[in-house]
Amino acid sequence: MDPQNIYDDPRFFAGYSTLERFGAGWKRAMEHADLLALLPDVNGRRALDLGCGAGQLAHHLATSGAAEVIGVDVSERMLALARAEFAHPRVTYARAAIEDVTFPAGRFELVASVLAFHYVDDYAGLVRRIAGWLAPGGVVVYSTEHPIYTARASDDGWALDSAGRRTCWGVDRYADEGAREATWFVPGVRKVHRMFATLVNGLLDAGLVIERVVEPTPGEPWLRSHPQAGDERRRPMFLLVRARKP
Ligand SMILES: C[S@@+](CC[C@H](N)C(=O)[O-])C[C@H]1O[C@@H](n2cnc3c(N)ncnc32)[C@H](O)[C@@H]1O
Repeated sequence: MDPQNIYDDPRFFAGYSTLERFGAGWKRAMEHADLLALLPDVNGRRALDLGCGAGQLAHHLATSGAAEVIGVDVSERMLALARAEFAHPRVTYARAAIEDVTFPAGRFELVASVLAFHYVDDYAGLVRRIAGWLAPGGVVVYSTEHPIYTARASDDGWALDSAGRRTCWGVDRYADEGAREATWFVPGVRKVHRMFATLVNGLLDAGLVIERVVEPTPGEPWLRSHPQAGDERRRPMFLLVRARKP
């Protein structure tokens, strides 16, 4: 199935671009420090950013000394922003679907992806392809929506009491893997739910060694600056992983 490319939908993009994490705001994202902590030293290394969006990470890798960074994204709107605001002489932005790109074996020391894998149907195939593109000793670092988040029982996820207060987070059909549609700025936004075991075993089956798994939760400083976000500690939204090719 072709990727949905919802980020090129003008109504979706208008909503998404209001998020605090959009563009230069990526540094204020709750899981930002956790993501940076997983990245290897990229000095002189070659990196690929899958679903690079506005290019913040690709630019960060280049300014951290990467010899070359390729950022791939299916959305022309996101890439236009990347080229305008996160350009760098050692970064190349390419419009392509993650499902379609191919690279020679051993091409990169780092393959990174921030919040894009939950748009891709064939996770096992993707991590096998990434394992092939990595040089020995290279790492893949990715974040994705957490299985407890993608298996939410309703668009909003929260169960409410009669006074409209959030009582708990609802998970449903956890074992039913595959695409689910939800309203996020517009109806019909398609994301793929996978079980936690599927995410882990896909990496192991691709011959990668899992080095770290992080379920980011907000700490005190972030909660002080985001006082309405206390519920972020009640369920995980993201999962971050670093795995290495032996
Ligand atoms: C949540 S945004 C994250 C963007 C960026 N990585 C960041 O951290 O801000 C998801 C990005 O993945 C891209 N994307 C979604 N599905 C894709 C696919 N199948 N192939 C390539 N890019 C895709 C979207 O266009 C969007 O830019």
